[in-house]
Amino acid sequence: MAVCFQSQLKPTTFFPSSTNTSPKTSSVLSFQFRCNFSLPTLAVTEPEPVLLSVESFAPATIANLGPGFDFMGCAVEGLGDYVSVTVDPSVHPGQISISDISGALPSVSKLSKNPLWNCAGISALAVMKMLNIRSVGLSLSLRKGLPLGSGLGSSAASAAAAAVAVNELFGSKLSAEELVLAGLESESKVSGYHADNIAPAIMGGFVLIRSYDPLELMRLRLPEKTNLHFVLVSPEFEAPTKKMRAALPAEIGMSHHVWNCSQAGALVASILEGDLVGMGKAMSNDKIVEPTRVPLIPGMESVKKAAIEAGAFGCTISGAGPTAVAVTDSEERGKEIGERMVEAFFKEGNLKAVAMVKALDRVGARAVAKVPR
Ligand code: HSE
Repeated sequence: MAVCFQSQLKPTTFFPSSTNTSPKTSSVLSFQFRCNFSLPTLAVTEPEPVLLSVESFAPATIANLGPGFDFMGCAVEGLGDYVSVTVDPSVHPGQISISDISGALPSVSKLSKNPLWNCAGISALAVMKMLNIRSVGLSLSLRKGLPLGSGLGSSAASAAAAAVAVNELFGSKLSAEELVLAGLESESKVSGYHADNIAPAIMGGFVLIRSYDPLELMRLRLPEKTNLHFVLVSPEFEAPTKKMRAALPAEIGMSHHVWNCSQAGALVASILEGDLVGMGKAMSNDKIVEPTRVPLIPGMESVKKAAIEAGAFGCTISGAGPTAVAVTDSEERGKEIGERMVEAFFKEGNLKAVAMVKALDRVGARAVAKVPR
């Protein structure tokens, strides 16, 4: 049997407050889960659906942020995936049927409608299992806004949107942290057991994964008035996360450990202080993961150089790549930096690329439409 509980919960019987609650007293909060990596069933009695249908949105995310490999990530505004879930009497109770997958990008045709092989399906089923849903079947439709394998947390956005939609449908019984566990089921199947996309996709803002076993998440609050702009430049090149993880060293030396820990500490301090120069500097200074991945993304070294020369405070690979992310404090400057980065991808990597300037998404995955029963 699964053994899983969090510090603020009694195991199995108590439902915490709904998702995306915003603790107000401190810039750093932590939540603890103890879990043996099999999903807990948290509901003793099966909840009834409170709605007929829910549509939800989950944002793109930037994982790693340089030295934060597998333990730091943040959400970005205005880009993401949509999932709708509907109570469907024609679907076998306790199961999910994926009725539709749409999206403008060609990579969408690669996605499976088998819920066991689809990020949204896996995550939705995980939430149903946690809620002990056995009497109701659901149909799910997925609208992809994010390209696959781009380094913008595409799989996590689908998983996060699905988890939130199912949770809302049954009355928002699970906490954001429990939804992260459901999303991790999907992430571990498609790319690896890392929460640095799924946690910020669900919770919004910056999230630090302090520990995986027990899962312990810390929300890092960027001061409200900080003028943070991310420049995201995505080349026409796929970098599957599994492949990019396989390239990483199994062991590192002590000097690299000390260096990267210092940079990660500086990154956290800079976020909490709203110090964008410090944040960019720390993001630019990973000596462990970035150097092994840069040679796998054509032109990336020059793209980083071009971003810094154009005035960015820092630049690194977003997640496993191939998207490059730079940090600046104005939208206009961000556009100029983006143009230089696109040029560098073309000139040095022979890759076409598109640039976007985006702000931080502080909300995370949320319901955007609800149909009553
Ligand atoms: N931390 C993960 C990696 C993020 O870099 O492999 C993948 O988006």
